[in-house]
Amino acid sequence: MKNVLLVASECVPFIKTGGLADVVGELPKYIDKTRYDVRVILPNYKAIPGNLKEQMKYHTHFYMDLGWRRQYVGILDAEIDGVKFYLVDNEYYFNGEKPYGNIYEDIEKFAFFNRAVLSALPLLDWHPDIIHCNDWQTGLLPVYLKDSFNAGDFYRGIKSIMTIHNLKFQGIWNKKTVMDVAGLDPYYFTSDKLEAYGDANYLKGGIVYADYVTTVSESYAKEIQMPFYGEGLDGLMRARSNCLCGIVNGIDYNEYNPETDKFIKYHFNSSNFRTNKKKNKVLLQEELGLEVNDKKFMVGIVSRLTDQKGLDLVDCVIEQICAENLQLVILGTGEQRYENLFRHYEWKYKDRVSASIYYNNERSHKIYASCDAFLMPSLFEPCGLSQLMSMRYGTIPIVRETGGLKDTVEPFNEYENTGTGFSFMNYNAHEMLNTIRYAENTFYDKRRQWNKMVERAMNRDFSWKNSAEKYQELYDRLLGY
Ligand code: GLC
Repeated sequence: MKNVLLVASECVPFIKTGGLADVVGELPKYIDKTRYDVRVILPNYKAIPGNLKEQMKYHTHFYMDLGWRRQYVGILDAEIDGVKFYLVDNEYYFNGEKPYGNIYEDIEKFAFFNRAVLSALPLLDWHPDIIHCNDWQTGLLPVYLKDSFNAGDFYRGIKSIMTIHNLKFQGIWNKKTVMDVAGLDPYYFTSDKLEAYGDANYLKGGIVYADYVTTVSESYAKEIQMPFYGEGLDGLMRARSNCLCGIVNGIDYNEYNPETDKFIKYHFNSSNFRTNKKKNKVLLQEELGLEVNDKKFMVGIVSRLTDQKGLDLVDCVIEQICAENLQLVILGTGEQRYENLFRHYEWKYKDRVSASIYYNNERSHKIYASCDAFLMPSLFEPCGLSQLMSMRYGTIPIVRETGGLKDTVEPFNEYENTGTGFSFMNYNAHEMLNTIRYAENTFYDKRRQWNKMVERAMNRDFSWKNSAEKYQELYDRLLGY
């Protein structure tokens, strides 16, 4: 039996701000339990719902030095769906309404979390062979592991993995403060270690010190070795390219299942979607106050409304999009600029545009189930999960060819009748507009071919099975099996 500890700042069902939480919550469920004991550790935020707090049990507590500070560390545990979770408790750091707040506070918060995780290990009656870190909030952990913790027998030989879900967020703050809060020697703050461009950089520390680095798609693993996607760390990514690979994420096939989904009224599969899927569309049109017409081409967007998602392309040609024979359904929150954009167009074209500027899980399922196409023109996309959810529900993705979008959506070829979606290459609003029009024309004029594509998309396998196997292979390789 090999023991793997997944460390992350968010994880479903406890707390979620993005796809990271889905991945960390789902992966352990799909790892072979006869060969690996995968457990998860995360902060015990105040914002975790009460019903989950009730399932946590006190495990232990102690006091820990963090630089000149001395802090309380509580450890709670819980078992949910057969997975063991540990939660690090400290009311001073984790009492906010959200997991993240001001970066200068988060910098200290996650230094504390990383050190607390390592300090708690000997008290868990369990010894991990691998510590699997995720994103910048866990970047200091591989550094600590090689530093002070390397001295003890307990820690010697533990391997670490750093998984990058988004290279854009690195956890950057000035060196002096980080030295102080992290309690690390000035030795670490040079440009071959934690320092990048004069500041301290948590993610960089993780990438330099981890035994292996992964990202969430093969294309993104290549892209981040180039300046355009490298976020200033492309040189480092190239330097570590022999210990870098991409493993695409899966989605939870129980949660996202058009045959059983509790949020949709008319269930369907790849053989009966022709009659049933559009009944959901009618219901959604009624619910959103759009023109009720099951023949209308309906395009969905479920997204954080940020620059990463390519929404300035949508902004640029939204008038032209609205002039097409289609309906646009948006769900999500984010930058004011985009929230206002979509609110305005909903007001301007009530029968054609619906903008729900909030997040609602039930509504997202209805959109995946009811729309004909799903728009995701990302500037960059490490993996992307919603295109996978869309395809599972026979909703054809329209994407830009980047990162995980490129790896999971096969472009439609009308001559050979292959593909599962539509894609364009350049970050260009008119290229996107043309691709939307191409999808729209295919939908209206070549319905047989469209439906065949829906069938193909629904029959692709994006469950966790394949991805979990790849992580298992990586775990084995690191441990020398
Ligand atoms: C981040 C990325 C997204 C990825 C997710 C989970 O949110 O932006 O592309 O799917 O992490 O790995």
